[in-house]
Amino acid sequence: MTVLVTGGAGYVGAHMLLALEAAGETAVAIDDLSSGAVWLAPSPGRLFVGDVGDRGFVSRIIDEYGVTEIVHFASATLVPESIEKPLDYYRRNAASALALFETCVAKGVDRIILSSTASVYGKPDASPVSESAPVRSISPFGASMAMAERMLTDAAAAHGLNYVILRYFNVAGADPALRAGQIGKATHLVRVAAQIAVGARDEELRVFGTDYQTPDGTAIRDYVHVCDLADAHLAALMLLRAGEPSAILNCGYGRGYSVREVVAAVERVTGAALPTVDAPRRAGDPPQLIADSAAIRSRLDWRPRFDEIDIIVSGAIDWERRLHVAGAT
Ligand SMILES: NC(=O)c1ccc[n+]([C@@H]2O[C@H](COP(=O)([O-])OP(=O)(O)OC[C@H]3O[C@@H](n4cnc5c(N)ncnc54)[C@H](O)[C@@H]3O)[C@@H](O)[C@H]2O)c1
Repeated sequence: MTVLVTGGAGYVGAHMLLALEAAGETAVAIDDLSSGAVWLAPSPGRLFVGDVGDRGFVSRIIDEYGVTEIVHFASATLVPESIEKPLDYYRRNAASALALFETCVAKGVDRIILSSTASVYGKPDASPVSESAPVRSISPFGASMAMAERMLTDAAAAHGLNYVILRYFNVAGADPALRAGQIGKATHLVRVAAQIAVGARDEELRVFGTDYQTPDGTAIRDYVHVCDLADAHLAALMLLRAGEPSAILNCGYGRGYSVREVVAAVERVTGAALPTVDAPRRAGDPPQLIADSAAIRSRLDWRPRFDEIDIIVSGAIDWERRLHVAGAT
Protein backbone atom coordinates (compact mmCIF):
# COMPACT_ATOMS: atom_id res chain seq x y z
CA MET A 1 0.00 0.00 0.00
CA THR A 2 1.35 3.40 -0.94
CA VAL A 3 -0.08 6.64 0.40
CA LEU A 4 0.06 9.71 -1.83
CA VAL A 5 0.39 12.92 0.18
CA THR A 6 -0.50 16.03 -1.82
CA GLY A 7 1.07 19.22 -0.50
CA GLY A 8 3.85 17.15 1.10
CA ALA A 9 6.31 20.05 1.01
CA GLY A 10 3.98 22.21 3.12
CA TYR A 11 3.45 22.58 6.84
CA VAL A 12 0.87 19.90 7.64
CA GLY A 13 1.86 17.64 4.72
CA ALA A 14 5.49 17.45 5.88
CA HIS A 15 4.34 16.42 9.37
CA MET A 16 2.06 13.82 7.80
CA LEU A 17 5.01 12.34 5.91
CA LEU A 18 6.95 12.13 9.18
CA ALA A 19 4.01 10.40 10.87
CA LEU A 20 3.68 7.92 7.98
CA GLU A 21 7.41 7.20 8.09
CA ALA A 22 7.26 6.61 11.85
CA ALA A 23 4.35 4.21 11.32
CA GLY A 24 6.35 2.23 8.74
CA GLU A 25 4.10 3.24 5.85
CA THR A 26 5.24 3.78 2.27
CA ALA A 27 4.46 7.26 0.96
CA VAL A 28 5.11 9.49 -2.00
CA ALA A 29 4.39 13.20 -2.16
CA ILE A 30 3.50 15.80 -4.74
CA ASP A 31 3.71 19.55 -4.39
CA ASP A 32 3.88 22.47 -6.81
CA LEU A 33 6.03 24.45 -4.33
CA SER A 34 3.65 27.43 -4.51
CA SER A 35 4.02 27.82 -0.75
CA GLY A 36 6.04 24.74 0.24
CA ALA A 37 9.75 24.01 -0.01
CA VAL A 38 11.67 20.91 -1.09
CA TRP A 39 13.83 21.01 2.06
CA LEU A 40 10.71 20.75 4.24
CA ALA A 41 9.64 17.39 2.76
CA PRO A 42 11.18 14.62 4.90
CA SER A 43 12.10 12.42 1.90
CA PRO A 44 12.89 14.83 -0.95
CA GLY A 45 13.63 11.85 -3.23
CA ARG A 46 10.00 10.81 -3.03
CA LEU A 47 8.64 14.29 -3.73
CA PHE A 48 7.37 15.00 -7.23
CA VAL A 49 6.96 18.60 -8.24
CA GLY A 50 3.73 19.31 -10.07
CA ASP A 51 0.12 20.40 -9.84
CA VAL A 52 -2.43 18.23 -8.06
CA GLY A 53 -4.93 19.36 -10.70
CA ASP A 54 -2.83 17.85 -13.50
CA ARG A 55 -4.63 14.57 -14.17
CA GLY A 56 -1.86 13.05 -16.31
CA PHE A 57 0.85 13.84 -13.76
CA VAL A 58 -1.12 12.46 -10.81
CA SER A 59 -2.22 9.38 -12.79
CA ARG A 60 1.39 8.54 -13.67
CA ILE A 61 2.41 8.68 -10.01
CA ILE A 62 -0.56 6.54 -8.98
CA ASP A 63 0.38 3.92 -11.58
CA GLU A 64 4.12 4.00 -11.00
CA TYR A 65 3.95 3.73 -7.19
CA GLY A 66 0.79 1.66 -6.82
CA VAL A 67 -0.97 4.38 -4.85
CA THR A 68 -3.93 3.03 -2.88
CA GLU A 69 -4.78 6.05 -0.69
CA ILE A 70 -4.57 9.80 -0.96
CA VAL A 71 -4.20 12.36 1.82
CA HIS A 72 -4.97 15.72 0.24
CA PHE A 73 -3.36 18.85 1.71
CA ALA A 74 -2.42 20.74 -1.46
CA SER A 75 -4.24 24.04 -1.41
CA ALA A 76 -3.89 27.74 -0.88
CA THR A 77 -4.64 28.60 2.73
CA LEU A 78 -4.61 32.34 3.49
CA VAL A 79 -8.01 33.87 4.31
CA PRO A 80 -7.09 37.53 3.57
CA GLU A 81 -5.45 36.55 0.27
CA SER A 82 -8.57 34.58 -0.65
CA ILE A 83 -10.65 37.74 -0.25
CA GLU A 84 -8.30 39.64 -2.59
CA LYS A 85 -8.05 36.81 -5.14
CA PRO A 86 -11.22 34.71 -4.84
CA LEU A 87 -11.04 33.15 -8.29
CA ASP A 88 -7.50 32.03 -7.63
CA TYR A 89 -8.74 30.23 -4.54
CA TYR A 90 -11.64 28.57 -6.33
CA ARG A 91 -9.23 27.37 -9.03
CA ARG A 92 -6.47 26.26 -6.67
CA ASN A 93 -8.68 24.64 -4.04
CA ALA A 94 -11.98 23.68 -5.64
CA ALA A 95 -11.03 23.08 -9.30
CA SER A 96 -7.84 21.21 -8.30
CA ALA A 97 -9.79 19.03 -5.89
CA LEU A 98 -12.31 18.28 -8.64
CA ALA A 99 -9.51 17.11 -10.94
CA LEU A 100 -7.96 15.05 -8.14
CA PHE A 101 -11.24 13.32 -7.29
CA GLU A 102 -11.85 12.58 -10.97
CA THR A 103 -8.39 11.04 -11.14
CA CYS A 104 -9.14 8.95 -8.05
CA VAL A 105 -12.35 7.65 -9.62
CA ALA A 106 -10.62 6.93 -12.94
CA LYS A 107 -7.74 5.12 -11.23
CA GLY A 108 -9.77 3.28 -8.59
CA VAL A 109 -8.12 4.98 -5.61
CA ASP A 110 -11.02 4.78 -3.22
CA ARG A 111 -9.65 5.91 0.16
CA ILE A 112 -9.27 9.67 0.50
CA ILE A 113 -8.49 11.83 3.50
CA LEU A 114 -9.34 15.47 2.86
CA SER A 115 -7.87 18.24 4.92
CA SER A 116 -10.54 20.86 5.54
CA THR A 117 -11.07 23.70 7.95
CA ALA A 118 -13.34 25.11 10.64
CA SER A 119 -13.63 28.11 8.29
CA VAL A 120 -16.41 26.17 6.55
CA TYR A 121 -18.62 27.07 9.55
CA GLY A 122 -18.13 30.83 9.09
CA LYS A 123 -19.38 32.50 12.26
CA PRO A 124 -21.08 29.62 14.06
CA ASP A 125 -24.03 30.32 16.38
CA ALA A 126 -22.79 28.03 19.14
CA SER A 127 -19.51 26.97 20.68
CA PRO A 128 -18.24 24.24 20.88
CA VAL A 129 -19.11 23.75 17.21
CA SER A 130 -20.32 20.31 16.19
CA GLU A 131 -20.07 18.81 12.72
CA SER A 132 -23.82 19.25 12.30
CA ALA A 133 -23.51 23.05 12.49
CA PRO A 134 -24.49 24.74 9.21
CA VAL A 135 -21.75 25.17 6.61
CA ARG A 136 -21.83 28.86 5.73
CA SER A 137 -18.32 30.05 5.04
CA ILE A 138 -17.71 33.78 5.00
CA SER A 139 -14.43 33.77 3.05
CA PRO A 140 -13.54 32.40 -0.40
CA PHE A 141 -10.99 30.18 1.37
CA GLY A 142 -13.68 28.57 3.55
CA ALA A 143 -16.09 28.37 0.62
CA SER A 144 -13.50 26.73 -1.63
CA MET A 145 -12.85 24.07 1.02
CA ALA A 146 -16.58 23.54 1.52
CA MET A 147 -16.87 22.99 -2.25
CA ALA A 148 -14.12 20.37 -2.12
CA GLU A 149 -15.94 18.66 0.74
CA ARG A 150 -19.22 18.64 -1.17
CA MET A 151 -17.63 17.25 -4.34
CA LEU A 152 -16.02 14.47 -2.35
CA THR A 153 -19.18 13.45 -0.49
CA ASP A 154 -21.25 13.50 -3.69
CA ALA A 155 -18.60 11.53 -5.61
CA ALA A 156 -18.38 9.06 -2.74
CA ALA A 157 -22.11 8.40 -2.90
CA ALA A 158 -22.01 7.89 -6.67
CA HIS A 159 -18.66 6.14 -7.16
CA GLY A 160 -18.02 4.20 -3.97
CA LEU A 161 -15.21 6.36 -2.62
CA ASN A 162 -14.49 6.20 1.10
CA TYR A 163 -13.38 9.33 2.85
CA VAL A 164 -12.60 11.09 6.07
CA ILE A 165 -12.85 14.88 6.00
CA LEU A 166 -10.99 16.54 8.87
CA ARG A 167 -12.01 20.10 9.70
CA TYR A 168 -9.03 21.63 11.45
CA PHE A 169 -9.34 24.29 14.08
CA ASN A 170 -6.16 26.37 14.71
CA VAL A 171 -3.09 24.36 13.80
CA ALA A 172 0.17 25.36 15.48
CA GLY A 173 3.46 24.03 16.81
CA ALA A 174 6.23 22.04 15.18
CA ASP A 175 7.83 18.62 15.07
CA PRO A 176 9.65 18.22 18.45
CA ALA A 177 12.86 17.24 16.61
CA LEU A 178 12.46 20.39 14.45
CA ARG A 179 12.45 18.45 11.18
CA ALA A 180 9.37 20.41 10.07
CA GLY A 181 7.41 23.50 10.98
CA GLN A 182 5.67 26.47 9.37
CA ILE A 183 7.36 28.52 6.69
CA GLY A 184 6.28 31.41 4.46
CA LYS A 185 3.93 34.25 5.28
CA ALA A 186 2.86 34.18 8.95
CA THR A 187 -0.72 35.20 9.68
CA HIS A 188 -1.68 33.00 12.62
CA LEU A 189 -1.36 34.13 16.23
CA VAL A 190 1.00 31.46 17.61
CA ARG A 191 3.45 31.82 14.74
CA VAL A 192 3.42 35.61 14.72
CA ALA A 193 3.93 35.65 18.51
CA ALA A 194 6.79 33.13 18.17
CA GLN A 195 8.46 35.26 15.50
CA ILE A 196 8.25 38.36 17.68
CA ALA A 197 9.55 36.39 20.67
CA VAL A 198 12.70 35.25 18.83
CA GLY A 199 13.35 38.66 17.25
CA ALA A 200 12.44 37.58 13.72
CA ARG A 201 9.80 40.36 13.67
CA ASP A 202 10.45 43.73 15.18
CA GLU A 203 6.95 44.77 16.14
CA GLU A 204 4.32 44.56 18.84
CA LEU A 205 1.80 41.74 18.68
CA ARG A 206 -1.55 43.20 17.73
CA VAL A 207 -4.41 41.87 19.86
CA PHE A 208 -7.40 42.15 17.53
CA GLY A 209 -10.49 42.77 19.65
CA THR A 210 -10.40 43.25 23.42
CA ASP A 211 -14.14 43.74 23.99
CA TYR A 212 -15.51 40.31 23.12
CA GLN A 213 -17.91 38.58 25.52
CA THR A 214 -15.11 36.31 26.79
CA PRO A 215 -13.52 36.22 30.25
CA ASP A 216 -10.61 38.52 29.31
CA GLY A 217 -12.28 40.22 26.32
CA THR A 218 -10.01 38.61 23.69
CA ALA A 219 -10.93 35.94 21.14
CA ILE A 220 -10.73 32.27 22.05
CA ARG A 221 -9.50 29.54 19.72
CA ASP A 222 -8.88 25.78 19.89
CA TYR A 223 -5.17 25.29 19.13
CA VAL A 224 -4.25 21.81 17.90
CA HIS A 225 -0.64 20.63 17.69
CA VAL A 226 0.39 19.79 14.14
CA CYS A 227 1.79 16.38 15.18
CA ASP A 228 -1.51 15.45 16.81
CA LEU A 229 -3.21 16.57 13.62
CA ALA A 230 -0.95 14.31 11.54
CA ASP A 231 -1.74 11.43 13.91
CA ALA A 232 -5.45 12.09 13.37
CA HIS A 233 -4.93 11.62 9.61
CA LEU A 234 -3.12 8.37 10.25
CA ALA A 235 -5.95 7.20 12.49
CA ALA A 236 -8.41 8.22 9.75
CA LEU A 237 -6.55 6.05 7.24
CA MET A 238 -6.77 3.12 9.67
CA LEU A 239 -10.51 3.71 10.04
CA LEU A 240 -11.01 3.43 6.29
CA ARG A 241 -8.71 0.42 6.01
CA ALA A 242 -10.85 -1.28 8.65
CA GLY A 243 -13.84 -0.80 6.34
CA GLU A 244 -15.60 1.65 8.64
CA PRO A 245 -18.00 4.20 7.15
CA SER A 246 -16.80 7.57 5.87
CA ALA A 247 -16.87 10.52 8.26
CA ILE A 248 -16.64 14.28 8.60
CA LEU A 249 -14.83 15.12 11.82
CA ASN A 250 -13.75 18.27 13.61
CA CYS A 251 -10.11 18.19 14.53
CA GLY A 252 -9.51 20.18 17.70
CA TYR A 253 -9.08 19.33 21.36
CA GLY A 254 -12.37 20.84 22.49
CA ARG A 255 -10.62 23.40 24.67
CA GLY A 256 -9.89 27.03 23.91
CA TYR A 257 -7.34 29.65 24.86
CA SER A 258 -7.75 33.39 24.57
CA VAL A 259 -5.23 35.63 22.82
CA ARG A 260 -4.04 36.87 26.21
CA GLU A 261 -3.61 33.27 27.43
CA VAL A 262 -1.46 32.51 24.37
CA VAL A 263 0.62 35.62 25.10
CA ALA A 264 1.03 34.46 28.71
CA ALA A 265 2.18 31.03 27.46
CA VAL A 266 4.79 32.68 25.22
CA GLU A 267 6.01 34.71 28.19
CA ARG A 268 6.19 31.60 30.41
CA VAL A 269 8.18 29.72 27.77
CA THR A 270 10.66 32.52 27.01
CA GLY A 271 10.74 34.10 30.47
CA ALA A 272 10.44 37.52 28.80
CA ALA A 273 7.60 39.97 28.23
CA LEU A 274 6.01 39.87 24.78
CA PRO A 275 5.22 43.38 23.51
CA THR A 276 1.53 43.70 22.59
CA VAL A 277 -0.80 46.45 21.46
CA ASP A 278 -4.58 46.41 21.52
CA ALA A 279 -6.22 46.71 18.10
CA PRO A 280 -9.83 46.78 16.84
CA ARG A 281 -11.69 43.57 16.06
CA ARG A 282 -11.15 42.15 12.56
CA ALA A 283 -14.24 41.72 10.39
CA GLY A 284 -15.48 38.14 10.40
CA ASP A 285 -13.59 36.96 13.50
CA PRO A 286 -15.94 35.03 15.78
CA PRO A 287 -15.38 35.62 19.52
CA GLN A 288 -14.93 31.95 20.20
CA LEU A 289 -14.19 28.94 18.00
CA ILE A 290 -13.84 25.66 19.83
CA ALA A 291 -14.31 22.20 18.35
CA ASP A 292 -16.84 19.78 19.68
CA SER A 293 -14.36 16.91 19.60
CA ALA A 294 -16.71 14.13 20.72
CA ALA A 295 -17.01 12.64 17.23
CA ILE A 296 -13.30 12.44 16.43
CA ARG A 297 -12.58 10.97 19.83
CA SER A 298 -15.23 8.29 19.43
CA ARG A 299 -14.68 7.43 15.74
CA LEU A 300 -10.88 7.47 15.56
CA ASP A 301 -8.23 5.79 17.64
CA TRP A 302 -6.72 9.24 18.19
CA ARG A 303 -4.60 9.88 21.26
CA PRO A 304 -3.33 13.47 21.30
CA ARG A 305 0.18 13.71 22.72
CA PHE A 306 0.72 17.46 22.74
CA ASP A 307 -2.57 18.82 24.10
CA GLU A 308 -0.98 21.59 26.14
CA ILE A 309 -0.63 25.24 25.11
CA ASP A 310 2.91 25.61 26.53
CA ILE A 311 4.12 22.62 24.48
CA ILE A 312 2.51 24.02 21.32
CA VAL A 313 3.98 27.47 21.88
CA SER A 314 7.40 26.20 22.88
CA GLY A 315 7.69 24.06 19.70
CA ALA A 316 6.66 27.05 17.58
CA ILE A 317 9.30 29.22 19.26
CA ASP A 318 12.07 26.62 18.85
CA TRP A 319 11.19 26.29 15.18
CA GLU A 320 11.20 30.06 14.59
CA ARG A 321 14.53 30.34 16.38
CA ARG A 322 15.91 27.67 14.06
CA LEU A 323 14.61 29.52 10.97
CA HIS A 324 15.83 32.87 12.29
CA VAL A 325 19.35 31.56 12.96
CA ALA A 326 19.39 29.97 9.50
CA GLY A 327 18.21 33.26 7.97
CA ALA A 328 15.14 31.50 6.52
CA THR A 329 11.42 32.35 6.83
N1 LIG B 1 -2.28 25.47 8.85
C1 LIG B 1 -3.50 25.73 9.29
O1 LIG B 1 -3.68 26.45 10.30
C2 LIG B 1 -4.70 25.14 8.62
C3 LIG B 1 -5.96 25.38 9.18
C4 LIG B 1 -7.08 24.85 8.56
C5 LIG B 1 -6.95 24.10 7.43
N2 LIG B 1 -5.72 23.88 6.89
C6 LIG B 1 -5.64 23.08 5.66
O2 LIG B 1 -4.54 22.21 5.73
C7 LIG B 1 -4.02 21.99 4.42
C8 LIG B 1 -2.54 22.19 4.46
O3 LIG B 1 -2.27 23.50 4.91
P1 LIG B 1 -0.83 23.96 5.36
O4 LIG B 1 -0.99 24.81 6.55
O5 LIG B 1 0.08 22.80 5.41
O6 LIG B 1 -0.45 24.91 4.15
P2 LIG B 1 0.90 25.00 3.32
O7 LIG B 1 0.76 26.17 2.42
O8 LIG B 1 2.07 24.94 4.22
O9 LIG B 1 0.85 23.65 2.49
C9 LIG B 1 0.11 23.48 1.32
C10 LIG B 1 1.06 22.83 0.33
O10 LIG B 1 0.36 22.54 -0.86
C11 LIG B 1 1.14 22.94 -1.97
N3 LIG B 1 0.18 23.22 -3.04
C12 LIG B 1 -0.75 24.22 -3.10
N4 LIG B 1 -1.46 24.13 -4.23
C13 LIG B 1 -0.99 23.05 -4.91
C14 LIG B 1 -1.32 22.43 -6.13
N5 LIG B 1 -2.31 22.89 -6.92
N6 LIG B 1 -0.63 21.33 -6.51
C15 LIG B 1 0.37 20.84 -5.74
N7 LIG B 1 0.72 21.39 -4.57
C16 LIG B 1 0.06 22.48 -4.16
C17 LIG B 1 1.92 24.14 -1.49
O11 LIG B 1 3.10 24.39 -2.22
C18 LIG B 1 2.22 23.74 -0.04
O12 LIG B 1 3.43 23.03 0.05
C19 LIG B 1 -4.78 22.94 3.51
O13 LIG B 1 -5.79 22.24 2.85
C20 LIG B 1 -5.38 23.94 4.46
O14 LIG B 1 -6.59 24.47 3.97
C21 LIG B 1 -4.59 24.38 7.46
